[in-house]
Amino acid sequence: NLINEKSMKGMKGAFMINIALPKGRLGNKVYDLFEKIGYESSEIKEDNRKLIFENREKNVRFLLVKPSDVEKGSADIGVVGRDVLLEENPDIYELMDLGFGKCKFAIAGPVNFKENFDRPLVVATKYLNVSKRYFDSINRDVELIKLNGSIEIAPILGLSDVIMDIVETGTTLKENNLKVLKTIEDISARFIANKSSYRFKNEEIEKIVKSIKEIL
Ligand code: PRP
Repeated sequence: NLINEKSMKGMKGAFMINIALPKGRLGNKVYDLFEKIGYESSEIKEDNRKLIFENREKNVRFLLVKPSDVEKGSADIGVVGRDVLLEENPDIYELMDLGFGKCKFAIAGPVNFKENFDRPLVVATKYLNVSKRYFDSINRDVELIKLNGSIEIAPILGLSDVIMDIVETGTTLKENNLKVLKTIEDISARFIANKSSYRFKNEEIEKIVKSIKEIL
């Protein structure tokens, strides 16, 4: 309908594109990428607590929301680690591998770790589904403990035997006397789109995809 369409479209008659920008390490890299293709919004780099930033000229809006919420329509497109996709299996389109934000899923444990095969392995992780799939695939009985951050602390406190987590530089493991016991899978940042946004705002989204591909 005309009224809705009008309110959804910006000044130039094109649809406004909402981009989910993760906070933290990956977020900065993602913003830099959009800046490179000309979608800057300098306010983002200021130290503030704002959650929405616009570039009216380019008709884009950056939202600091979890990219995994792109599935629900909180944003049209976003960038998310493959770890999140493997864990949450959201119903979205994965449009491209951006090739940065590289890290690995790994099992890690104390440097002197000896596995006891007579009992289930106790694994602390934020990634319950990925862990379950992996240990099922090797037929190893496990007890999974869900933690939400600083997973590395679990074996130190005796809460678990090992952890399943993402490892980038390995510094966190090293500084906590842990080491990688087994590397499971390569992770990198993926460009994703909400399924209905991809249909209705196809032209605008494809334009962004094309610009990014040109500079990668
Ligand atoms: C991740 C991961 C490790 C760390 C690994 O945590 O959970 O703790 O990065 O990086 P490194 O190998 O370079 O040391 P993140 O910083 O994303 O925060 P989190 O603990 O909130 O998940």
